[in-house]
Amino acid sequence: MTDILEVKGLKKQFGGLVAVNNLDFTIEDGSRTGIIGPNGAGKTTTFAMIAGEHNPTAGSILFEGERIDRLKPSVICKKGAARTFQIVRVFRQLTVYEHIIMGAVAGKSCFSTCSYQTDEIEHLMELTGFENDHDKIAGSLTSARQKQLGLATALATKPKLLLLDELMAGLNLSEIERSLLILRKINEEMGITLVIIEHVMRVIMGLCKKIIVLETGQKIAEGTPKEISENKRVIKAYLGKEEKAYAGN
Ligand SMILES: Nc1ncnc2c1ncn2[C@@H]1O[C@H](COP(=O)(O)OP(=O)(O)O)[C@@H](O)[C@H]1O
Ligand SMILES: [Mg+2]
Repeated sequence: MTDILEVKGLKKQFGGLVAVNNLDFTIEDGSRTGIIGPNGAGKTTTFAMIAGEHNPTAGSILFEGERIDRLKPSVICKKGAARTFQIVRVFRQLTVYEHIIMGAVAGKSCFSTCSYQTDEIEHLMELTGFENDHDKIAGSLTSARQKQLGLATALATKPKLLLLDELMAGLNLSEIERSLLILRKINEEMGITLVIIEHVMRVIMGLCKKIIVLETGQKIAEGTPKEISENKRVIKAYLGKEEKAYAGN
């Protein structure tokens, strides 16, 4: 298996605060990887650097063997890396259909070369549960549904790599089950590599083959769900505090 993403010595400093420090990891093409860690560990900042929203202070990011750090977000998106946002960001005035089409356009290098067939968009809307919501206004959806719309819009860019930032936050148990099925389909049927930041441990443990654990900007562990759930340092730094949530889920 080849690596689709390679992060080397990655660092991000905001003034005096080092949010991410000397971070190394690789993501295998076609895999499902989880990133966990306490609030403020640097998870979202790592995604923001991969997606080109923040320039790293140091280090490099290779996507399909090519350096992408310092490229613009729009260029990185066209190369095939897309993300969703922890804090909901939608264009509130657009309809659901328009929103998803916007993703399709963003994923293409030129509007006129947009290779999307109408039935592909319909299929995507069905997959993400928006098949009856074409004309609904994005701003009128609940925040959990707006996050799902973020997923549908990211998928419409036809990514090879999809970064999901706390997609499940605020969902009830049946919505989580539904989202898990969608994520499996996205990975197994569409062949999209997934990297998932999530606090819902059942999602991470059940879905991911590999888990990376961050604490104060640094990687403190990496391994299979079993290895991570037994790792004393991870339990102390994170899982101990999440135990209640884990048991509840
Ligand atoms: N744009 C920013 N400016 C200044 N500090 C930031 C910025 N973004 C994040 N931080 C800080 O960087 C640290 C890591 O944040 P973040 O990556 O959001 O953590 P996580 O997603 O793991 O909760 C936190 O201390 C946060 O306050
Ligand atoms: Mg975050």
